[in-house]
Amino acid sequence: MLTDDLKTLLATTYSYSIKAQYFHWNVEGPDFGQLHKFFQKIYEDASSAIDPIAEYIRALGEYTPGSFERFAQLTQIQGQVKVPRARLMLEELLVDSDTIIALLNQCFASAEQENAQDVANFIAERLSQHNKYRWQLRSYLKDARA
Ligand SMILES: [Fe+2]
Repeated sequence: MLTDDLKTLLATTYSYSIKAQYFHWNVEGPDFGQLHKFFQKIYEDASSAIDPIAEYIRALGEYTPGSFERFAQLTQIQGQVKVPRARLMLEELLVDSDTIIALLNQCFASAEQENAQDVANFIAERLSQHNKYRWQLRSYLKDARA
């Protein structure tokens, strides 16, 4: 059901945004400046998607979750409580990107099935953003190996 998928997407996007911001705050190492900015771009973009997702849920007639407790139950992305090294931060966000892309694909299929073209359109734009970050995360990791 589309609203259920969107509730999961809301919680997962929130988790993803918090993690990218957490990494933005705590990243260290020779690539500090670049990664600090890169993580900021990711969390600001993810954060900008939160309100529209919640409002699509409302437009579809359901109430939206909105607490850490509910988000923790619904999210597909685990929070990070340690401070990983920069490379591990990139690897973790890459894995989380795969998770969020799979979830977005599921939302897109549900939106099409329920004839919610406006939601499908929004989800397609989110996919485009996350595919871009996945490519950039992979590219950072390749440089780090050289
Ligand atoms: Fe900042």
